[in-house]
Amino acid sequence: MSWFEAIARPDIRSLQPYQHASWEPGLVRLHANELPWRSLADASEAGLNRYPEPHPLALAARLAELYQIDAGSVLACRGSDEAIDLLTRCYAQHGRDAVLIAPPTFGMYAICARVQGAAVIEVPLRRAAGYEPDLPELLAALTPAVKLVYLCSPNNPTGNLIGRAQILELAAALAGQALLVVDEAYVEFSGARSLSTELAAQPGLVLLRTLSKAHGLAGARCGAVLAHPEIINLLRRVIQPYAVTQLTIEAVFHALEPKPLAETRTHVAMVIAERERMAFALATRAAVLRVWPSAANFLLVEFRDPGAALECCHTAGLLVRDLRRAPTLGQALRISVGTPEQNDRLLASLP
Ligand SMILES: Cc1ncc(COP(=O)(O)O)c(C=O)c1O
Repeated sequence: MSWFEAIARPDIRSLQPYQHASWEPGLVRLHANELPWRSLADASEAGLNRYPEPHPLALAARLAELYQIDAGSVLACRGSDEAIDLLTRCYAQHGRDAVLIAPPTFGMYAICARVQGAAVIEVPLRRAAGYEPDLPELLAALTPAVKLVYLCSPNNPTGNLIGRAQILELAAALAGQALLVVDEAYVEFSGARSLSTELAAQPGLVLLRTLSKAHGLAGARCGAVLAHPEIINLLRRVIQPYAVTQLTIEAVFHALEPKPLAETRTHVAMVIAERERMAFALATRAAVLRVWPSAANFLLVEFRDPGAALECCHTAGLLVRDLRRAPTLGQALRISVGTPEQNDRLLASLP
């Protein structure tokens, strides 16, 4: 057994997965207690009276093509939120294991761990170094209980891309002990290559991708885990059958056709251009203390009076994210890049 399987929860490794109704689309389905008629409200192609494919292989194959990786290394799931939950449930034993995170970062890594009853060890990103991770400190914090180490690149909410060499150094140092989970939710906006080409050399590396950001499908709830096939097989034992709905499967296939994909590239380019315009414009405002460089579709902005800035935005009908309670971000708000008109409105709302 490989080390990255051996460190998973023993009870998950030996779990007999749920036996879902067999998937033979050519045959009449009298084996899954479905209704044989479609609802009048059903606008889907395949029919919502039928369960979707339990582990949608064609979807995984399409995502594999998108992410340029073998289909056996992909698990399609209900957003990357579900991916984080699955990894935690597979690898962190309640009351015994731990996950290592580098705050300020995306909140779900810690929440999933706490729900699972696993400990959360925090090694803060180094603000003085542009929120780079502290590799020696991360390695020093490693104990045999740590099963998952999370990095987010570009990081939410700080926006910085973490250096490829640093990530690979950490993955190599963790080999045999813990998985390194790199959340690439925003990588399309960074101009950097995904780490997917490194998976073969680093089998303990796990990547999270999502269609919620660059592809504009946040409402469809579709994400993917990219990892060694043995890790994927382990996660498949735990994922709910039918986790990805038929409507989502159809939406994703449509979104990945050539025309919408070309539009996605246009949207990403627009976001990047607007992000840079906004960063420049915000930096000249009296209310603004600092705009952090961003490789994502949002800006981390520190204000002299963040409460007042929040109020200005709200009065102009704009919601921005209050980060004042996040570690080291007492003055900060996170602002998603909108359309040029929305961005102009935001600029007009601030002194
Ligand atoms: C870094 C990061 N990872 C994952 C997610 C969750 O994405 P999804 O919509 O795929 O569940 C988000 C959502 O904001 C995020 O910022």
